[in-house]
Amino acid sequence: MTIFIALPGNEALARSLAEFTGGRAGRLATRRFPDGESYVRILDPLDGEDVHLVCTLADPDAKVLPLLLAAGAARDGGARSVRLIAPYLAYMRQDWAFAPGEAVSARHFAALLSGVFDAILTLDPHLHRLQSLGEIFGIRTQVAHAAPLLAQWVADQVAEPFIIGPDTESRQWAQQVAEGAHAPYAVLQKVRHGDRNVELQLPDLSGAKGRLPVLIDDIISSGATMVQAAEKLQALGFPPPVCLAVHGVFAAGAFERLKGASQTVVTTDSIPHPSNGISIAHLLAAELKHL
Ligand code: R5P
Repeated sequence: MTIFIALPGNEALARSLAEFTGGRAGRLATRRFPDGESYVRILDPLDGEDVHLVCTLADPDAKVLPLLLAAGAARDGGARSVRLIAPYLAYMRQDWAFAPGEAVSARHFAALLSGVFDAILTLDPHLHRLQSLGEIFGIRTQVAHAAPLLAQWVADQVAEPFIIGPDTESRQWAQQVAEGAHAPYAVLQKVRHGDRNVELQLPDLSGAKGRLPVLIDDIISSGATMVQAAEKLQALGFPPPVCLAVHGVFAAGAFERLKGASQTVVTTDSIPHPSNGISIAHLLAAELKHL
């Protein structure tokens, strides 16, 4: 039997995955001891079960330790396998030491998870200098792709879209969404000067006149990328754009700033947030067959 156990905040997704795969949802109790340490208890018998811990990893530092404890409890409880379903996989963006002594977080975080889980399923991890998760994980990895869902959303909701990826890394999503929604697309150039400081350059967008710009990126974090793209498009006479992203991480104030610069902001529910407009539960359930 397959059992899906949600870490706090992931209950809806765990229930949907159980429903779509014919598995069942398990129960987990967590609390903090007075000294701040985590208490974790799995409330279901697990002997011989394939356990899936469901935990999206935005704002990961407080989530990771209870997750590791839950994985340990599942093993101690006799689980046949312990897998992680993390729709948003944190720490993938620091995949290189840009200065001496910097931790290459992607590699170390992958090693940590690889020592605890048998396999991992995620959605569109941010891979920049890496070609695949297999380069840093020592366990089986499976990646679901949200582009077809984003394309369907655009096709359903936007009459004359012009798809725009705000940087070269977003090209893969922009191109696939444009193809799926039968729309033209362009990709901007971005130079990052700091965590919240980016500089975008727009190409000739005269072919987009009369269309509604739809900005597409994998992650919205500080919002600096999307906000600047939205402002520059409006300075050229375009209407406020639609902003679409796979993962709405949204640092403090980012959502409000972006709403002020755009027509609407829509994300998948890989991270629960008021901007969620595209459900990924069916997609992940289908991918589980390949894990
Ligand atoms: C970076 O390469 C990603 O694709 C996103 O463009 C980036 O994470 C967005 O970050 P922010 O919202 O902080 O500009």
